[in-house]
Amino acid sequence: MPLLAIESTCDETAAAVIDRRRQVLSSVVASQDELHARWRGVVPEVASRAHVERIIPVVDEAVRRSGISRTSIAAVAVAVRPGLVGSLLVGLAAAKGIAAALDVPIVGYDHIAAHLYACRLEFGQRLQYPCVGLVASGGHTSLFHLRGPLQLERLGGTIDDAAGEAFDKAASLLGLGYPGGPLIERAAEGGNPRAYRLPRPLVADRERLDLSFSGLKTALRYLVRPPGAPADVPVPEGQRLADLAASFQQAVVDSILAKVELALRVTGCQTLAIGGGVAANSALRGALEQLGERKRIAVWIPPRHLCTDNAAMGALAWERLERGDNDGLELDVLPGTDRSAARRGDARPSVSP
Ligand code: KG4
Ligand code: ZN
Repeated sequence: MPLLAIESTCDETAAAVIDRRRQVLSSVVASQDELHARWRGVVPEVASRAHVERIIPVVDEAVRRSGISRTSIAAVAVAVRPGLVGSLLVGLAAAKGIAAALDVPIVGYDHIAAHLYACRLEFGQRLQYPCVGLVASGGHTSLFHLRGPLQLERLGGTIDDAAGEAFDKAASLLGLGYPGGPLIERAAEGGNPRAYRLPRPLVADRERLDLSFSGLKTALRYLVRPPGAPADVPVPEGQRLADLAASFQQAVVDSILAKVELALRVTGCQTLAIGGGVAANSALRGALEQLGERKRIAVWIPPRHLCTDNAAMGALAWERLERGDNDGLELDVLPGTDRSAARRGDARPSVSP
């Protein structure tokens, strides 16, 4: 009997039905991109309200497409951390209601661990642990040492903006719209990635596994509108736009690549798993594949639709269900990031649930 997974951590409302063999019977994602585009970023209150409207239709559609009856659902899984608190609560409330009505177990799962579990969906048991995990998304850019699907030790990551956030802000500076990643990727086609010298902060630091993207964004802003230039300076077009987009994208890729290499060296791992929306980026995928060939390590990259937010990756919850876990109706959301947990001195293990 399959599980129903629900995902509402940020601005996608998603549900999926996955059987015990990790076969995805259905996966439905309702994007809110058009609602947030005019603000060029996710507005938490708008996101929560949209989740409320969409969650039940999305779950119904996932069950319908899976071809199973509602009463065949063995358990309900829900992403409970990290994310926007209002968004998370909508998914949790729906999950609790369904679990209570069907009288089945409910288990929470970590959205970041689930991004990496997308590799398991695509490559099955061939994904070997321990491995290094890279999650690069709109809210997170972190490196992990994974000893298993649920055992993540955070090695480092961004100290300011997430990579996806940097893409979104760069797209806004270049007048491209939201979400920025795919638009920058398209604008960069035909551009020269070496046309502009942009900073790669912390790359030279061979001790720390930290990354930083805020200086890169500022450097791009000054290229687009030099200090002292009038506020109405026209947005770049044509070859200049392509060169700026390509140079920005290359700086992000180089920064990530340097730290992935360092993480592989520090841990001695022979396998790299990646996930998150930025993992859909062709330049990053290509660079990591080349790294794999150069270093003779296995690089697991999910297909693009499993990189951006979805509920199929909630298959991770099977790992908890198979060991008999059931969080019950006490389950709560944990919106904070690993970084904020570390700042609070939170003793909670980095991933559980
Ligand atoms: O994983 P995700 O869907 O949501 C979060 O958990 O944050 O990631 C969304 C982020 C956005 O910032 C978006 O601009 C970025 O992933 N993204 C990309 C690409 N597709 C999505 N960034 C670069 N290149 C892409 N092709
Ligand atoms: Zn995500």
